[in-house]
Amino acid sequence: MSPSDDFSALLFSPLDIRGVRFRNRTVISPMCTYSATDGLANDWHLVHLGKFALGGAAAVFTEAAAVEPRGKITHGDLGIWSSDHAAALKPVTNFIRRNGALPSIQIAHAGRKASMQRPWQGNGPLDDTDRARGEDIWDIVAASAEPVKSGWLMPAELSVSAISDIQKNFASAAGHAADAGFEVLEIHSAHGYLAHSFLSPLSNHRNDAYGGDLAGRMRFTLETAEKVRAVWPNDKPLFVRISSVDVDGADEGWGLADSVALAGELKARGVDVVDCSSGGIAGLATSSQGPREQGFRGPYGARIRSETGVATMVVGLVLDARVAEDLLVSGAADLVAVGREALYNPNWPHHMARDLGVDADYAEWPEQYGWWLVRREPLFKEASDD
Ligand SMILES: Cc1cc2nc3c(=O)[nH]c(=O)nc-3n(C[C@H](O)[C@H](O)[C@H](O)COP(=O)(O)O)c2cc1C
Repeated sequence: MSPSDDFSALLFSPLDIRGVRFRNRTVISPMCTYSATDGLANDWHLVHLGKFALGGAAAVFTEAAAVEPRGKITHGDLGIWSSDHAAALKPVTNFIRRNGALPSIQIAHAGRKASMQRPWQGNGPLDDTDRARGEDIWDIVAASAEPVKSGWLMPAELSVSAISDIQKNFASAAGHAADAGFEVLEIHSAHGYLAHSFLSPLSNHRNDAYGGDLAGRMRFTLETAEKVRAVWPNDKPLFVRISSVDVDGADEGWGLADSVALAGELKARGVDVVDCSSGGIAGLATSSQGPREQGFRGPYGARIRSETGVATMVVGLVLDARVAEDLLVSGAADLVAVGREALYNPNWPHHMARDLGVDADYAEWPEQYGWWLVRREPLFKEASDD
C-alpha cells in the first residue's frame, strides 16, 4: 500500500484512558505460548513479548495468565496466582515499558477447557501420551457439569462458595499484576473459558443465581469485574474480552444483544474497554465457523460502542493498515488488536505506519534500528536504479 492522503492515520494517534497513554491504537492480542513452568515466566516470555514492544505496538498483552493452578489451559500456561509469579514477570514489564509500550496482562480461568494438550501436542484433553511425559490431568470446574464435547473431561459444577473463591482469586491476581508493573489488565470472559461458560446458555444450565436468565448468566462476569476493579489501581485501564456472539452469523447461544447488555453493565462497573472477539464456546475461537473476512468483528464493536458508549477493541483478521484504520474511523473501535499477524511480523505496527505514510523517517523505531533504516532506503533505490 502506498502512502495516501485518504488516511487520517487515526491508527497512529495516541489514546488516553484513565492515567495511561497508548502511543497509538495497535495492541498485541493475548496469545498463549504454553512455555511457562508452574506458571512462572522465563526468558522465552521476555524475548517473545519484548520484541512486540520494539515492533511499535502501543500495548503488549501477555497470554492468558491463570488466576489459580486449576485454571490453566495446559501445563505450560502462564500464571499470576502468587508474588513469585509477579516477580518472574517483572523483567518483562520493565522491558516493555522501557521500550515505549504498555505492559498488559490478561487474567483468566480456563474452566471446562482446562487440562488440555498444547495445540502442537494434540489440542485435545490430556491423554496417556501426555501422562508418560509427566503431564497428568487435573480436576476441572465449570458453570455446569458438561464437557466441551463428548470425550472431553467432565467438569464439576461450581458451588456458590467455590464461585466466590475463584472471584477472590481474580481479584488477588489483579493485585499481583499491579505489583508486577502491568499498566493494563484484561479479564478473559470469552472463548469458552470459565466466565464465558457462565454467560452462554449453551454451557450454563444452572437454576440458581448464577444461571437462568441473562442477568443470572452475567452475574459471574459482572461480580468478577467489580472485585477486580476494586483492587486494580484506579488510574489504570481495565478491559474485558468477550465473545460478542457464540456463533458468527447465526442466532444461536449468546448473541450480540446480550453483549450490548453486558457491555453496558461492565461500563457501569468501571470497565474501560470491551475487547470484541467471538466464538470458542465448544472449539477454537480462531477456527472459522463460516467465511470470515478481514475485520469481520467490526460490526460487533460498532454496535457495542454506539449503544453503550463504552470504548471497544476489535480483534480478528486485521491484516493491513487500511482495514485497521477503517475500524477506527468508522467508529467500530478505539483500539485494534492483532494476533497471528504479529507472530508473522512482530514489527507489524511499524510497517503499518510506513504504509500510512506517518513515519517516513523511522522516528518511531528503536533508535538502534531507525538510524540504519533511514540510510538503507537510498541504497535500495540505487540498487533498483542499476
Ligand atoms: C497462538 C494463539 C494463542 C492465543 N491465545 C489467546 C489467549 O491467551 N487469550 C485470548 O483471549 N485469545 C487468545 N488467542 C486469540 C487471539 O488473541 C486473537 O483473538 C485471534 O488470534 C484472532 O486475531 P488474529 O486474526 O489477529 O490472529 C490466541 C490466538 C493464537 C493464534
